[in-house]
Amino acid sequence: MHTIQPKENRITVLGLCGSLRPGSYTRMALQVALRTAQEAGAETRWLDLTEYQWMFCDGTLNENRLPPQVERLRQEIQQAHGLILGTPEYHGSFSGVLKNALDLLDGSELKGKMVGLISVAGGALGGIDALNGLRTICRSLHAWAIPEQVAIPEAWKVFDEKGAVQNTALEKRLQEVGHQVVQYARLHVSANLLT
Ligand SMILES: Cc1cc2nc3c(=O)[nH]c(=O)nc-3n(C[C@H](O)[C@H](O)[C@H](O)COP(=O)(O)O)c2cc1C
Repeated sequence: MHTIQPKENRITVLGLCGSLRPGSYTRMALQVALRTAQEAGAETRWLDLTEYQWMFCDGTLNENRLPPQVERLRQEIQQAHGLILGTPEYHGSFSGVLKNALDLLDGSELKGKMVGLISVAGGALGGIDALNGLRTICRSLHAWAIPEQVAIPEAWKVFDEKGAVQNTALEKRLQEVGHQVVQYARLHVSANLLT
């Protein structure tokens, strides 16, 4: 694959939402974190999985003839310094669509990148197990999952119809995820420029 390295002069942060549902609360939560990343000076982009013609990872991808959507997915992530992953809690874990997207990577795209983690659940227990699973995947992909994370229980109570968070403490924690991804990505890039 032709890999494109991140431009060093400006931090780029991608938002990747593991829910395809119109009106997704996960997307709303990610938007809060991504907005803060932008305010912290990063260029932010959505990696919108609803725009992809999906295929399942069946373990037979030919690196010399990648389907265009896989090539695009890999390049988008390769070009970023950081990623904020948002997932709905599905049956005690992260969503299949997010796992499949991560399985379509060749494993190098997230190496050394900062990752913020957010989960959204319908139930009162929140999505901690989804976050723990994603943290393990980050380790496997050699990414730096930042310590700050947010699991939102009973998401239907938390957002208004415009996607605004109705709970100030929660909003601050989402903002902190966005802020820290930029802050640590910046430190990481600076450290790599030192000789
Ligand atoms: C297949 C499926 C499984 C779910 N499993 C759980 C679960 O284990 N725990 C929970 O609290 N909510 C569960 N929910 C509810 C979702 O977490 C909730 O609807 C959430 O808002 C979905 O995210 P979204 O709004 O971004 O689409 C499940 C929903 C679906 C569709």
